[in-house]
Order: sequence, then structure tokens, then C-alpha cells
Amino acid sequence: MTAASYRSLTELSAIAWRAAAAQPFSPRAEIETAVNLLGGLTFTGQALPTSHGAVERYLKPRDLRHPHANALLGALVETAPAIDWIGGQSGYGGEPDMQAFCANYAFCALAGPAGWARGCSAVSDKVGFNFTVQGPNVTYPDHAHKAIELYYVVSGKALWKRGGEPWVERYPGDVILHTAGMRHAMKTTDEPLVAMAVWISDINSGLVVVRA
Ligand SMILES: [Fe+2]
Repeated sequence: MTAASYRSLTELSAIAWRAAAAQPFSPRAEIETAVNLLGGLTFTGQALPTSHGAVERYLKPRDLRHPHANALLGALVETAPAIDWIGGQSGYGGEPDMQAFCANYAFCALAGPAGWARGCSAVSDKVGFNFTVQGPNVTYPDHAHKAIELYYVVSGKALWKRGGEPWVERYPGDVILHTAGMRHAMKTTDEPLVAMAVWISDINSGLVVVRA
């Protein structure tokens, strides 16, 4: 059941990515790379489900006006009990903003390098494939990684910051590209955020929270 559900989520994600690539100003080359990499995944169905409070509180069915985001959210809600959800960035214990963040943020790795996360169902050294759930009024502080990353907003909304750009509000169906090493942050207001993220390069690179 898990492998089939993961495959289905991945197929719906490819449909959503392709539709997003057709939009003006979209990062088409990176989206094409992501779709090709996701298409090469083989799911094993070995993930061990783990629940997380943020998922239980904030991953809910909603009637979204965006058809591809709506389909993805429905499939994710259905698959969520079979997913190994992980709390966010455990390496920053004792830092108040990170503790507040970790209490209300969860992600899952449907694909990635072996040992990258407990829930990797498809092992890949080329692509990381995640869904994230971020509660309302939560800030994911500035962070960076060498991996080139694409985000897709599935449900809710969030303010997004890329590099030195101002905060921009993002909605279901929006795509956000983080280039290699680009500092970025996301903060929610009155709604939780459900998002999909794909790492398309350097997937063994670490993530660092940027304090300076
Ligand atoms: Fe990132």
C-alpha cells in the first residue's frame, strides 16, 4: 500500500510540476530536471509510519481552488498515516526560535540518499523528495544549503524570503526556486503551510541555519 501511495503522490506531483512549468517566469529548466529525476524513482514500501503532532494538527483536507494542489493535498492526507514524519532540524536544541519551529513543523522524505532520513522509501543519490507541514505563526529561520531546491505550495499560505529579496506571500500552486547556497526563510501567519520540496543537486549537502 505504501509504495503504491508514494508512487501515486509522485505522479500527482509530476502533473503539478508540469503545470507550474507552463506559467510565466517559472524556473522551467529546474522543474524539468525535477520531473525527470522523480520519474526515475523506485519505491520499496519500506517506510515505517511515525506520526507527528504538527501533522495531526495541521494536515487537513481542504477544498482548494487550485486543481493540482487540491489533488496533491487529497493524496497526501490519505497517505499521511503511512508516512514516517520527522520533526524539523534537531541539531539546534536550546535555541529558542528553533525549538518553537521544531514543535510545529514536520517533514517526510519520500526519496533521498540512503540514511538521509528514516522515512526514505525510494533511495536515490540524485533527488530528494519531501513534503512539509508548518503550523500557523511559525517561522522557519534563515537557512541555506548547497542543494538546488524547488518548493511547491500545496495548501495554505506563507511569507517567503529568498536571498536579499523582500518577503513575498505565496499561495497554492506557486513554485519557489532556491539556488545553490541561497539563504531562505518561510514564515506562516494565520494559516498552516503544506508544501512539497525537491532537491535536484548535491543532495548529500547539509543544511545550516544562518545566524549572521
Ligand atoms: Fe531549503
